Amino acid sequence: MKFFIDTANLDQIREAQALGILDGVTTNPSLMAKEGITGEENIKNHYKAICEIVDGDVSAEVIATDYEGMVKEGEALAALHSQIVVKLPMIADGVKACKYFSDKGIKTNVTLVFSAGQALLAAKAGATYVSPFIGRLDDISTDGLNLIAEIRHIYDNYMFETEILAASVRHTMHIIDCAKIGADVMTGPLKAIEGLLKHPLTDSGLEKFLADYKKGN
Ligand code: E4P
Repeated sequence: MKFFIDTANLDQIREAQALGILDGVTTNPSLMAKEGITGEENIKNHYKAICEIVDGDVSAEVIATDYEGMVKEGEALAALHSQIVVKLPMIADGVKACKYFSDKGIKTNVTLVFSAGQALLAAKAGATYVSPFIGRLDDISTDGLNLIAEIRHIYDNYMFETEILAASVRHTMHIIDCAKIGADVMTGPLKAIEGLLKHPLTDSGLEKFLADYKKGN
Protein backbone atom coordinates (compact mmCIF):
# COMPACT_ATOMS: atom_id res chain seq x y z
CA MET A 1 0.00 0.00 0.00
CA LYS A 2 1.37 3.39 -0.97
CA PHE A 3 1.14 6.29 1.47
CA PHE A 4 0.55 9.78 0.08
CA ILE A 5 0.22 12.87 2.24
CA ASP A 6 -2.71 15.15 1.43
CA THR A 7 -1.32 18.62 2.00
CA ALA A 8 0.54 21.51 0.40
CA ASN A 9 2.33 22.27 3.69
CA LEU A 10 6.06 21.82 3.05
CA ASP A 11 6.94 21.23 6.73
CA GLN A 12 4.42 18.42 7.01
CA ILE A 13 5.63 16.91 3.75
CA ARG A 14 9.23 17.04 5.06
CA GLU A 15 8.14 15.42 8.32
CA ALA A 16 6.36 12.53 6.55
CA GLN A 17 9.30 12.12 4.17
CA ALA A 18 11.71 11.97 7.14
CA LEU A 19 9.66 9.11 8.60
CA GLY A 20 10.71 7.11 5.53
CA ILE A 21 7.23 5.91 4.60
CA LEU A 22 6.12 8.53 2.09
CA ASP A 23 5.33 7.51 -1.50
CA GLY A 24 3.85 10.75 -2.80
CA VAL A 25 1.76 13.87 -2.27
CA THR A 26 -1.72 14.97 -3.28
CA THR A 27 -2.80 18.57 -3.36
CA ASN A 28 -5.89 20.41 -4.50
CA PRO A 29 -6.77 24.09 -4.98
CA SER A 30 -8.22 24.29 -1.46
CA LEU A 31 -5.04 22.88 0.12
CA MET A 32 -2.92 25.36 -1.87
CA ALA A 33 -5.12 28.26 -0.76
CA LYS A 34 -4.87 27.05 2.87
CA GLU A 35 -1.08 27.54 2.67
CA GLY A 36 -1.57 31.00 1.14
CA ILE A 37 -0.17 29.90 -2.23
CA THR A 38 -1.95 31.92 -4.92
CA GLY A 39 -1.18 32.97 -8.51
CA GLU A 40 -0.15 30.66 -11.34
CA GLU A 41 3.61 31.14 -10.99
CA ASN A 42 3.64 30.72 -7.20
CA ILE A 43 1.53 27.59 -7.49
CA LYS A 44 3.87 26.12 -10.12
CA ASN A 45 6.92 26.92 -8.00
CA HIS A 46 5.25 25.30 -5.02
CA TYR A 47 4.70 22.09 -6.99
CA LYS A 48 8.37 22.09 -7.90
CA ALA A 49 9.33 22.60 -4.24
CA ILE A 50 7.16 19.62 -3.25
CA CYS A 51 8.79 17.47 -5.95
CA GLU A 52 12.22 18.33 -4.52
CA ILE A 53 11.19 16.96 -1.11
CA VAL A 54 9.57 13.64 -2.09
CA ASP A 55 10.69 10.87 -4.42
CA GLY A 56 7.23 9.80 -5.60
CA ASP A 57 4.19 11.07 -7.49
CA VAL A 58 2.87 14.58 -6.83
CA SER A 59 -0.69 15.29 -7.96
CA ALA A 60 -1.24 18.77 -9.42
CA GLU A 61 -4.84 19.70 -10.13
CA VAL A 62 -6.04 21.56 -13.22
CA ILE A 63 -8.38 24.51 -12.77
CA ALA A 64 -9.88 24.47 -16.28
CA THR A 65 -13.15 22.59 -16.71
CA ASP A 66 -13.17 22.32 -20.52
CA TYR A 67 -11.22 19.71 -22.50
CA GLU A 68 -8.89 22.13 -24.35
CA GLY A 69 -8.18 24.07 -21.17
CA MET A 70 -7.44 20.90 -19.19
CA VAL A 71 -5.10 19.59 -21.88
CA LYS A 72 -3.21 22.90 -22.05
CA GLU A 73 -2.96 23.26 -18.30
CA GLY A 74 -2.15 19.60 -17.71
CA GLU A 75 0.66 19.67 -20.27
CA ALA A 76 2.17 22.72 -18.58
CA LEU A 77 1.92 21.03 -15.16
CA ALA A 78 3.44 17.77 -16.44
CA ALA A 79 6.33 19.74 -17.94
CA LEU A 80 7.21 21.17 -14.52
CA HIS A 81 8.72 17.94 -13.17
CA SER A 82 8.83 14.22 -14.00
CA GLN A 83 7.01 13.43 -10.74
CA ILE A 84 3.92 15.48 -11.56
CA VAL A 85 0.64 13.59 -12.00
CA VAL A 86 -2.11 15.57 -13.74
CA LYS A 87 -5.18 15.67 -11.50
CA LEU A 88 -8.46 15.95 -13.41
CA PRO A 89 -12.04 16.28 -12.18
CA MET A 90 -14.54 13.49 -12.85
CA ILE A 91 -16.60 15.31 -15.45
CA ALA A 92 -17.05 14.40 -19.13
CA ASP A 93 -14.24 16.68 -20.30
CA GLY A 94 -12.06 15.36 -17.48
CA VAL A 95 -12.57 11.80 -18.73
CA LYS A 96 -11.67 12.90 -22.29
CA ALA A 97 -8.57 14.69 -21.02
CA CYS A 98 -7.64 11.60 -18.98
CA LYS A 99 -7.73 9.49 -22.15
CA TYR A 100 -5.62 12.11 -23.95
CA PHE A 101 -2.95 12.07 -21.23
CA SER A 102 -2.94 8.30 -20.76
CA ASP A 103 -2.46 7.85 -24.53
CA LYS A 104 0.54 10.18 -24.24
CA GLY A 105 1.99 8.25 -21.28
CA ILE A 106 1.39 11.11 -18.83
CA LYS A 107 0.20 10.02 -15.40
CA THR A 108 -3.28 11.08 -14.26
CA ASN A 109 -5.34 11.15 -11.09
CA VAL A 110 -9.10 11.38 -11.61
CA THR A 111 -10.48 13.21 -8.61
CA LEU A 112 -13.86 13.96 -7.00
CA VAL A 113 -15.03 10.37 -7.48
CA PHE A 114 -18.09 9.42 -5.46
CA SER A 115 -19.51 6.35 -7.22
CA ALA A 116 -18.43 3.00 -8.63
CA GLY A 117 -19.67 4.06 -12.07
CA GLN A 118 -17.39 7.09 -12.08
CA ALA A 119 -14.47 4.87 -11.04
CA LEU A 120 -15.27 2.46 -13.89
CA LEU A 121 -15.14 5.35 -16.39
CA ALA A 122 -11.82 6.59 -14.99
CA ALA A 123 -10.32 3.11 -15.44
CA LYS A 124 -11.69 2.86 -18.99
CA ALA A 125 -10.01 6.21 -19.76
CA GLY A 126 -6.70 4.77 -18.56
CA ALA A 127 -6.32 6.78 -15.34
CA THR A 128 -3.19 6.03 -13.34
CA TYR A 129 -5.07 6.75 -10.11
CA VAL A 130 -8.73 7.11 -9.22
CA SER A 131 -9.56 9.14 -6.11
CA PRO A 132 -12.77 8.13 -4.30
CA PHE A 133 -13.40 10.64 -1.48
CA ILE A 134 -14.35 8.49 1.50
CA GLY A 135 -14.51 11.20 4.19
CA ARG A 136 -16.87 13.39 2.20
CA LEU A 137 -19.20 10.40 1.69
CA ASP A 138 -19.10 9.63 5.41
CA ASP A 139 -19.98 13.31 6.00
CA ILE A 140 -23.32 12.78 4.23
CA SER A 141 -24.13 9.48 5.98
CA THR A 142 -22.95 7.29 3.10
CA ASP A 143 -20.38 4.55 3.69
CA GLY A 144 -17.17 5.75 2.02
CA LEU A 145 -15.36 2.48 2.72
CA ASN A 146 -18.09 0.56 0.93
CA LEU A 147 -17.24 2.55 -2.21
CA ILE A 148 -13.59 1.49 -1.94
CA ALA A 149 -14.72 -2.16 -1.65
CA GLU A 150 -17.03 -1.82 -4.69
CA ILE A 151 -14.27 -0.30 -6.83
CA ARG A 152 -11.78 -2.99 -5.69
CA HIS A 153 -14.27 -5.68 -6.73
CA ILE A 154 -14.92 -4.12 -10.16
CA TYR A 155 -11.25 -3.44 -10.92
CA ASP A 156 -10.29 -6.99 -9.90
CA ASN A 157 -13.03 -8.45 -12.14
CA TYR A 158 -11.40 -6.91 -15.20
CA MET A 159 -7.81 -6.56 -14.00
CA PHE A 160 -7.88 -2.78 -14.52
CA GLU A 161 -4.48 -1.34 -13.75
CA THR A 162 -5.82 1.98 -12.41
CA GLU A 163 -4.74 2.29 -8.78
CA ILE A 164 -7.39 2.98 -6.16
CA LEU A 165 -6.23 6.06 -4.26
CA ALA A 166 -8.44 6.35 -1.19
CA ALA A 167 -8.79 10.11 -0.71
CA SER A 168 -10.48 12.36 1.82
CA VAL A 169 -9.03 10.10 4.49
CA ARG A 170 -9.75 11.84 7.77
CA HIS A 171 -8.37 9.58 10.52
CA THR A 172 -6.20 6.60 11.33
CA MET A 173 -8.97 3.98 11.20
CA HIS A 174 -9.74 5.03 7.62
CA ILE A 175 -6.17 4.04 6.71
CA ILE A 176 -6.43 0.65 8.41
CA ASP A 177 -9.83 -0.08 6.87
CA CYS A 178 -8.58 0.92 3.40
CA ALA A 179 -5.62 -1.43 3.84
CA LYS A 180 -7.96 -4.29 4.81
CA ILE A 181 -10.10 -3.70 1.71
CA GLY A 182 -7.06 -3.49 -0.54
CA ALA A 183 -6.87 0.15 -1.64
CA ASP A 184 -3.60 0.55 -3.56
CA VAL A 185 -2.89 3.98 -2.10
CA MET A 186 -4.25 6.20 0.61
CA THR A 187 -3.83 9.95 0.91
CA GLY A 188 -4.40 11.57 4.26
CA PRO A 189 -3.25 14.20 6.72
CA LEU A 190 -0.01 13.77 8.70
CA LYS A 191 -2.02 13.37 11.92
CA ALA A 192 -3.84 10.30 10.54
CA ILE A 193 -0.53 8.74 9.48
CA GLU A 194 1.09 9.46 12.84
CA GLY A 195 -1.89 7.83 14.57
CA LEU A 196 -0.65 4.49 13.21
CA LEU A 197 2.42 4.80 15.45
CA LYS A 198 0.59 5.04 18.71
CA HIS A 199 -0.16 2.32 21.26
CA PRO A 200 -0.16 2.76 25.05
CA LEU A 201 1.36 -0.71 25.55
CA THR A 202 4.30 0.32 23.35
CA ASP A 203 4.86 3.39 25.54
CA SER A 204 4.49 1.58 28.87
CA GLY A 205 6.55 -1.40 27.61
CA LEU A 206 9.38 0.87 26.52
CA GLU A 207 9.24 2.77 29.81
CA LYS A 208 9.60 -0.51 31.73
CA PHE A 209 12.46 -1.78 29.55
CA LEU A 210 14.39 1.45 30.11
CA ALA A 211 13.69 1.43 33.87
CA ASP A 212 14.87 -2.19 34.17
CA TYR A 213 17.99 -1.42 32.14
CA LYS A 214 18.82 1.46 34.51
CA LYS A 215 18.43 -0.84 37.56
CA GLY A 216 21.13 -3.15 36.24
CA ASN A 217 23.57 -0.39 35.06
C1 E4P B 1 -7.72 14.25 -2.61
O1 E4P B 1 -6.89 14.23 -3.47
C2 E4P B 1 -8.22 15.45 -1.96
O2 E4P B 1 -7.20 16.41 -1.98
C3 E4P B 1 -8.57 15.28 -0.52
O3 E4P B 1 -8.29 13.98 -0.07
C4 E4P B 1 -9.87 15.83 -0.11
O4 E4P B 1 -10.00 15.64 1.29
P1 E4P B 1 -11.08 16.42 2.16
O5 E4P B 1 -12.41 15.83 1.88
O6 E4P B 1 -10.64 16.17 3.58
O7 E4P B 1 -11.01 17.87 1.76
